[in-house]
Amino acid sequence: MSGELRTIARLYRNSLRLHTSTVLGDPVASVLNLPRGAEGHTHYERIRSRGELVRGRSGLCMSASHAVCNEVLRDNRFKVAPTSAVRLKLRPLPGQRTDFLVHPLDDSLASANPPEHTALRKLVAPLFGAAQMRARREFVEELVERQLDALDGGEPVDLIDAFALRIPSLVIAELLGLPAADHDHFARWGIEFGATVDGARGARERRRTQVLLAELTDYFAAAVAARRAEPGPDLITALTAAVDEGAMTEAGLVSTCQALLIGGFVTTANIIGNAVIALSENSDQHEMFAADPGLAGAVVEETLRWEAPAQYSVRVVGEPLELAGRQLTRGTPVVALLAAANRDPEVFTEPGRFDITRPNAREHLSFAAGVHYCLGAGLARMEGEIALRGLYRRFPRVRAVGRPEYCPSRVIRGPRHLLVRTDD
Ligand code: HEM
Repeated sequence: MSGELRTIARLYRNSLRLHTSTVLGDPVASVLNLPRGAEGHTHYERIRSRGELVRGRSGLCMSASHAVCNEVLRDNRFKVAPTSAVRLKLRPLPGQRTDFLVHPLDDSLASANPPEHTALRKLVAPLFGAAQMRARREFVEELVERQLDALDGGEPVDLIDAFALRIPSLVIAELLGLPAADHDHFARWGIEFGATVDGARGARERRRTQVLLAELTDYFAAAVAARRAEPGPDLITALTAAVDEGAMTEAGLVSTCQALLIGGFVTTANIIGNAVIALSENSDQHEMFAADPGLAGAVVEETLRWEAPAQYSVRVVGEPLELAGRQLTRGTPVVALLAAANRDPEVFTEPGRFDITRPNAREHLSFAAGVHYCLGAGLARMEGEIALRGLYRRFPRVRAVGRPEYCPSRVIRGPRHLLVRTDD
C-alpha cells in the first residue's frame, strides 16, 4: 500500500472512531453505529431527507442518492482504501504456518487503485468471462437439484444452512479447486468475516479478526502449494502462472483467493434468503413466480434492488473536488449507501414495493459501478437464478415461518437463519 493510501486509510479510520464515540442526533453516525444485523432503511431515509450528500460531525460524508452514489463509484478521483482497523498491525500470529498474513479486501484488487488495480483486474477478470460462466451452468444446475433433494423431508428446515449457503460455497470450491468437504470452514469464515467487514472495533474484535485472517491465509497458502504440486483445471492453478511470470506476488494470489471466497459467498446466499423473505411477505408476487418459475432472472434483479446484500461501499476523496454542490477536501471519506440508492424515488417508482415485473430493476447499484464493479456479478446472477427457479419449481408453496435471524453485520444484509416450510 502506498504512503498516500495509508494516510487516507488512517483518516477514514479516525473519522470512523470519532463517529463510533458520537453523539446523538447525527444521522451519519447512527448509520455507522447500527447494531449488527439491524434493518437500515429507516436510518438511510433520514439521510435522504437531509439532502443528496450529508456531512456527519466528524466530516465523513454519506449519500442515499442513486445519482451521487453512481458518480462516486465511477469517478476515479474517489479512491478505495483499506478499511479494516487491523490493517496496519497485520503480522503473522505465533503458531501460524505461513510467514505472512493477508486480508481478503485490504490486500487484494478490492483495495487497489488504478494503475495497480487495472493490472490485477486484467489477470482475474478473464476467468469470470461469459464463456467461463456458460461452461459452469450445467454444474450449478446439477448442484442445485442435488441440494434440493436434501431439502425434501424434515419440516420446517433452515433454508440458509441446508441450501442457500451450500450453493455458492460448492460453486466457488469447484472454481478454485478446493475440496467440497471444507464447506463448514467456508461457512464459518464467510459469516465471521461479514461481522468485521466495516472494520474490527475494539481489542476483542481485532484479535478475533486476526485469528480469522491467519486461518484464511494458512488455508489458501496450503491450497496454492497443493495446486503447484498437482495442477488442475481450476482458477488457482491459472493464477499461479501469473505469480511465476512476476505479475502477482504469492501473498497477492492468496489474498485474491480469499477475496473470491469471501466476496462471493454470503452475498450470493443472501439473494436466495432475501428473495424467499420478500416473496413470503408479498403473496401476489409469490403466486406470479410460482406459476412461472421462468421469471427467476427478474426475481433475482428485484431482490438485489429491494435489499442490497452489501449495503454500502466506501471511497475516499483523492484530490480536492466538488460533489453534489459541496467542496470536498482530500482524505474525506464518502459512504455510498447502495441499499438506499436502490430505493431512490428519482429512479424507482414506489421504491419500497417488491415488484418482480419492475422494468428497470437492473439499474440497482448492488454490484457497485465503475472500475470495481463486482467481478462475480455474472456468476452470482446465474447461481441466484438457477437456485430460485429450482426451489420454486420443486416447492411452489415454499414460505418463511417465524422471523428470520439476520447475519451479524452492518454491511452484509441477509438472513443467517431462515426457517421455511416447503409443503402446504
Ligand atoms: C449477490 C452477490 C454479490 C454482491 C451483492 C456483490 C457485491 C459487490 C460489490 C458492491 C463490490 C464493489 C465493492 C466496492 O467497490 O466497494 C464487489 C466487488 C467484488 N466482488 Fe462481488 N458481489 C457478489 C458476488 C460476488 C461473487 C460471486 C464473486 C466471485 C466469486 C465476487 C467477487 C468480487 C470481487 C473480486 C470484487 C472486487 C472487484 C474489484 O475491486 O475490481 N462477488 N462485489
